[in-house]
Amino acid sequence: MSQHLVAPSLLAADFTQLAAEMALVNRSQADWLHFDVMDGRFVPNISFGFPIMEAVQKLCQKPLDVHLMILEPEKYISAFRDAGAAVITVHYEACVHLHRTIQEIKASGAKAGVALNPHTPIELLDDILEDVDLILLMSVNPGFGGQKFIYRTIPKIRRLKDRLIERNLSPLIEIDGGVGLQNAEELLKAGANVLVAGNSVFGAKDPEATIAQLKAIGEE
Ligand code: DX5
Ligand code: ZN
Repeated sequence: MSQHLVAPSLLAADFTQLAAEMALVNRSQADWLHFDVMDGRFVPNISFGFPIMEAVQKLCQKPLDVHLMILEPEKYISAFRDAGAAVITVHYEACVHLHRTIQEIKASGAKAGVALNPHTPIELLDDILEDVDLILLMSVNPGFGGQKFIYRTIPKIRRLKDRLIERNLSPLIEIDGGVGLQNAEELLKAGANVLVAGNSVFGAKDPEATIAQLKAIGEE
């Protein structure tokens, strides 16, 4: 199994202790920090935006993996890049001109990702697969942390992986929602290579150790 990435999700952190939470992430084996932006329109919740991202960018030494759960994300690409995004992922369902938006993300210098809601079939990505650096499969309905993992995501990962092999492409496959030690191995076996973990990390007794355990899965 190839080495995978672990991205703790800021959404589950204790915001009254932001500096301490970011110090923990810095010390840990986390590869990225996952940053969920919600607009109250694409998803039924509002999270955080640029002022928080600028603070996080100062405190966090890990690349910021920005997941935009917003309508018209194309309006904010350069602003997110300027605020420090290393990866910018937009939702298929929120983009009228996805191809153009992906090119704009790449032109900004960030890695470009596309996200799919649980009900959106991977086949809809056929004509964009070559252009993306990352595909994020939502394994819960986006909008909230701490939800139950939707099991059907597992065969979906396999289907996506098979399609990528057929096409000789290798964008990262990121899984987001309800991910933790209980299902990480199965996700990696199915073909995932980036695991987003919110509550399973920040809600753990020892978040740093949990990140290390998630990183160690699949190692001999
Ligand atoms: C949900 C967000 C997730 C969330 C995951 O809409 O996209 O990134 O933080 O949280 P957990 O891991 O707790 O399901
Ligand atoms: Zn997310």
